[in-house]
Amino acid sequence: MAAHQKIKNLTELGEILGKARQEGKRTVLCHGVFDLMHPGHILHIAAARKQGDVLAVTITPDRFVRKGPGRPVFSEKLRIQTVASLQDVDYTALNEWPTAVETIARLKPHVYAKGNDYTNPADDLTGRIVDEENAVRSIGGEIFFTNEESFSSSRLINQFFSTYPPQTEKYLKSFRSRYSADQVIDCVRGLQDLKVLLVGEAILDQYRYCTPMGKSPKETIVSTRFENEEIFAGGSLAIANHLAGFCKEVTLITMLGENTDQRRFIDSKLRPNVQLKAVVMKDRPTITKRRYLEPNFLTKMFEVQYLDDRPVPDAVEKDIRSRLEKCLEGHDFLVTADFGHGLMTKALREFVSSHGKFLALNTQSNSANLGFNTVTNYQRANFVCIDEPELKLAAARQYGDLHRLTDEVRRRIQVDAFLVSRGPLGSLIFSDHEPVVHTPALATRVVDRTGAGDALFSIASPCVYKKYPVEVVGFLGNCVGALAVEIVCNRDPVDPTLLLKFIKSVLM
Ligand SMILES: Nc1ncnc2c1ncn2[C@@H]1O[C@H](COP(=O)(O)OP(=O)(O)O)[C@@H](O)[C@H]1O
Ligand SMILES: [Mg+2]
Repeated sequence: MAAHQKIKNLTELGEILGKARQEGKRTVLCHGVFDLMHPGHILHIAAARKQGDVLAVTITPDRFVRKGPGRPVFSEKLRIQTVASLQDVDYTALNEWPTAVETIARLKPHVYAKGNDYTNPADDLTGRIVDEENAVRSIGGEIFFTNEESFSSSRLINQFFSTYPPQTEKYLKSFRSRYSADQVIDCVRGLQDLKVLLVGEAILDQYRYCTPMGKSPKETIVSTRFENEEIFAGGSLAIANHLAGFCKEVTLITMLGENTDQRRFIDSKLRPNVQLKAVVMKDRPTITKRRYLEPNFLTKMFEVQYLDDRPVPDAVEKDIRSRLEKCLEGHDFLVTADFGHGLMTKALREFVSSHGKFLALNTQSNSANLGFNTVTNYQRANFVCIDEPELKLAAARQYGDLHRLTDEVRRRIQVDAFLVSRGPLGSLIFSDHEPVVHTPALATRVVDRTGAGDALFSIASPCVYKKYPVEVVGFLGNCVGALAVEIVCNRDPVDPTLLLKFIKSVLM
């Protein structure tokens, strides 16, 4: 059969396999991404074909490939044509779901064939092979592990099709020689027992998508047409969600306005292992940042902030402090995400600096705080994570060597590990007993930078608390940064399973 005649949709494939079954033929199903066809795939498919009379291969569509930024390298169209051109393949179809579970139920193959890299369920980062096994069992089929020499698309892609610039490749080569994917994955899994206390401003990020139409005839402005809007749980809410993906529990102490719709929205957006302890402010709105964007390129045109950023009144300050005091005991460490919108008063800053528990600190500079909110407002932290412009503001110097600026800032705040993130240039980590660690950015596609620094802070903080090697902190930080810049604003927290898959595919 010509290759193009083998390509079916799932409904057609279901009918073909059903007919084959009626004719007493034994049907076999393989499923996968098949991003870079290699000898291992061909041998796997040949071994699967021997298990029956008809072999169908379903392929993960581009939108469900979860191997990290830059993947798949080859589009679903090319991948399905490649699979169809193999002699041992009778039929192929694009899957309609993220996994093969529904596909198995729909196609009811006698045999479901998996490669031998899946014989040990513990190696499967998503745990889905167990679901697939159950699906096969429920239709009375059997699972067959082909025992051919295994290659890895990811390893071959890293070797021959790197999407990274030479400097980043050089970094990865050297990092891979010191840390295996399994070691780094164990580090991420090692965070799962942590209980984190977080304090900082909750923010609602609002995106209003408007298409520019043209210049208003009477005015010197471009007029736009409203299309739609989205609201995201941002600020400390986003950080709580990121942290809760990596750690066991997060308690978030923050302030909110009285609006109950907004409160319901926030409650619906927080991960189940985030406990929200919010002080409700009578005369202040929940901090909201409304941005107007061109919808196709997500170009931001204008921003309106709804906030009252004076230091919170004494009663609220006392309330926050007593909540912190009560919670500190039951948590492993404290994260302070100070957005500079009035929550972290002088007394609260002194309190978090001096209570003696491990403190991870981020102070944001933004248009509302004009650079007044610098890390030097604190006396001490175990870990500080800020971006380059924030470092320059803290040092009150617009130019100069970042090492020197960091040294100057560290004379005014006592810090053990100091991470400076630099957007597309990655990050630098300064610490007392190790040389400076430079980690290049690992992103291949930038959709929206908003929230990237918060995501990086959220993974780096528990890693520094766990005393992981500084290099691992830098690497994991930029893996998470790379995943975060693919997410529109704070639409979703970084997916921890996707992080593990990304680690596995870049470190192969
Ligand atoms: N344009 C970009 N290209 C590649 N990676 C990026 C880009 N912007 C951000 N990142 C990733 O996100 C991390 C944090 O972003 P950064 O812009 O430094 O923080 P912030 O959002 O706080 O300003 C970077 O260290 C990097 O890993
Ligand atoms: Mg930031």
